[in-house]
Amino acid sequence: MRYLPINQLKNDMVLGQELYDAQGHMLLAKHTTLTEENIAYIAFLGVPGVYIDDSFSEEAKVEEIIRPEVKKAALRLIQDVFVHAAEDDVVGSAKENALRKYVNEIVDCVLDNEDVMYNLVAIKTYDDYTFFHSTNVAILSGIIGAKLNMKREALDDLVMAGFLHDIGKVFIDPDIINAPRKLTDEERIQMMDHPRLGYDFLKDEYNFSEDVLEAVYQHHEWFNGDGYPRRLEGVNISRMARILKVADVYDAMTGRRSYHDPYLPSDVLEYIMGRSGMEFDPSIVQVMAMEMCVYPVGCEVGLSDGRRGIILENQRGFIMRPKIKLLGDERVLDLANDREAWNLTIVKLLM
Ligand SMILES: [Fe+2]
Repeated sequence: MRYLPINQLKNDMVLGQELYDAQGHMLLAKHTTLTEENIAYIAFLGVPGVYIDDSFSEEAKVEEIIRPEVKKAALRLIQDVFVHAAEDDVVGSAKENALRKYVNEIVDCVLDNEDVMYNLVAIKTYDDYTFFHSTNVAILSGIIGAKLNMKREALDDLVMAGFLHDIGKVFIDPDIINAPRKLTDEERIQMMDHPRLGYDFLKDEYNFSEDVLEAVYQHHEWFNGDGYPRRLEGVNISRMARILKVADVYDAMTGRRSYHDPYLPSDVLEYIMGRSGMEFDPSIVQVMAMEMCVYPVGCEVGLSDGRRGIILENQRGFIMRPKIKLLGDERVLDLANDREAWNLTIVKLLM
């Protein structure tokens, strides 16, 4: 599989993934042969690029940590929970049980695939942003939590808090949430109230543990005490909230928002590392720096000597030095181990 930005798709290429919307409806099936019409349709969806299958990239395999059907069903449910919360029409226990079921399945997937690295290429459209983002934060938090050897019950709570961390936003004026501009002071104060609104809502309507509620309340606190709403500091912030904080920023910055194009995963990781100890807990940043694929499998990269290739495989602990299949001569270059690659760096990522 290889990842191609939308402007490089051509007729007769074969789609290597399925595309679905936030309701979990399939829009295009895997192995669809692309035509001019469905390329135009993909562009219309606002998707920045897609995976295609071809013989050159056959060895580039994207391993899924979460089974696609679990992810799709979770996405559908989370949308339902958000929409009903906004309409003040909560059917507590049925929805709570459904949420627990998917949280459970996600934690199963995470624990079954502990040797798989997180390889996210954002396939979310702008309209469905909140639901894809909530699902991604839940999954990424679960993966980080598992690496930190959190116990099963705590992982379940963490993934649940990931799904619901921004539920308080449904009580804020959508014009403020989606404003493609700088907020006024008063709007910013309203916006900064969403962790508390989320906490209060979940406390009233559901029976989640206090750990889940507090993680939602604290997910914008900074490690150095400069966050909001209560300016908690260091280990006074719950560990779950410190994990959510990193996962939230990583996914928000790599995703497509109303006010900016996605940043490259390598740039986002650098940003997070640069703010370790300030915004983020250093012990969690360290796990991220081992586990994130900053050069996602299948993506095209440019090397410092001008050659180009696609990412074949990432290597844990050496995330800046993946294996690359070179365009042109089709050789595989292992940036971590091949002697000829020692003075080469990746200078460009096509996403
Ligand atoms: Fe938030």
